[in-house]
Amino acid sequence: MKRVALLGATGSIGRQAIEIVVAHPELELCAAASGSTPLDDVAAPLKQVGGDLTELLERAQPDVVLNAVVGFAGVHATLWALEHGVDLALANKESLVAAGELALAARLRGGGRILPVDSEHSALFQCLEGREPEQVDTLVLTGSGGPFRGRRREELETVGPEQALAHPTWRMGPKITIDSATLANKGLEVIEAHFLFGVPYDRIEVVIQPTSIVHSLVRFRDGAALAHLGYPDMRVPISYALTYPQRAETPLRPLDLASLALEFAEPDTETFPMLSLARSAGEEGGGAPCVYNAANEVAVGAFLAGRLPFLAIPDVVHETLETVGSGSVRDLDELLTLDRQARACAEGALTAAAGGRG
Ligand SMILES: NC(=O)c1ccc[n+]([C@@H]2O[C@H](COP(=O)([O-])OP(=O)(O)OC[C@H]3O[C@@H](n4cnc5c(N)ncnc54)[C@H](OP(=O)(O)O)[C@@H]3O)[C@@H](O)[C@H]2O)c1
Repeated sequence: MKRVALLGATGSIGRQAIEIVVAHPELELCAAASGSTPLDDVAAPLKQVGGDLTELLERAQPDVVLNAVVGFAGVHATLWALEHGVDLALANKESLVAAGELALAARLRGGGRILPVDSEHSALFQCLEGREPEQVDTLVLTGSGGPFRGRRREELETVGPEQALAHPTWRMGPKITIDSATLANKGLEVIEAHFLFGVPYDRIEVVIQPTSIVHSLVRFRDGAALAHLGYPDMRVPISYALTYPQRAETPLRPLDLASLALEFAEPDTETFPMLSLARSAGEEGGGAPCVYNAANEVAVGAFLAGRLPFLAIPDVVHETLETVGSGSVRDLDELLTLDRQARACAEGALTAAAGGRG
């Protein structure tokens, strides 16, 4: 019996995770948390709406923490699991992006395992399993390109939340859906892959695969490339992480190979600068990924609230990175301070960015 603490139980990943837990008698939900939505319909002995997630985890003592909180708010739970040697099924990529170095140090001390839930990283994890790092040439993250794939900048000047929320292949929460439209999601994933797999940035590629059937691939030094294929359905990576290493059954139909046409394309980093901005923040290291993440969260919130044009999201992030720099993140307190500083700076940049674009 594996006892699962589910953080973000009311979200898109959270709901699908409950479906997986209910379907598998060897999984038991020992705790569930949300930010502010009531958990009346969630069956778990311990439930918490808002408040300190690590206190809940202390009480629950789970075998695995599924961190499906959205945004930086998930950082304490990620560090708690790694520090306590508890398996971390990680959907909350923002915590690993913002606190990558601290998370790796906590994992080293605590011995916790990270089982990626992000579909691309779950794919990479599976392609890499059992292979030595020196055999790996590059990691290739795939992305659908989002709802605005193929559009030029001038065509995106007036797009609003409704259009940006219409993702072509995945049904997800609003923040990650906007991140997919700007390619910030792919940028966060590049940084996430760097910390998860210890591969330098110049050996992490991004390629567009519009139907999201190829979830990612690994190129090896002998010229072979191993890919992970499947329909875009998050229940597969959630189930893989929760039942690892068993790979339990899911209700998905088998891939109909004859119906597939797999096309690949380069990402358009000129129209979608959030990908290159993430790569530079990752390469700069230190607190730069935390600053990138914080500014992006502020900009996405403002875009969703109708306070910022779509094309101004990267302007806010760029301005914040330039102003705040990479700061110092020797411990959690410094990380929290840097995150706050970056958010305040991004709030200030909103006005200029929104005004500058009329
Ligand atoms: N959705 C996907 O298919 C997908 C795929 C890959 C990775 N991910 C990653 O998984 C994470 C969750 O995404 P999602 O799409 O499931 O988001 P979502 O639908 O917006 O759900 C977010 C969850 O986090 C909770 N939450 C928000 N702020 C919180 C706080 N301060 N403390 C505790 N809980 C809080 C929310 O609770 P309330 O309901 O109370 O607000 C909700 O349960 C993100 O990091 C995302 O990047 C998602």
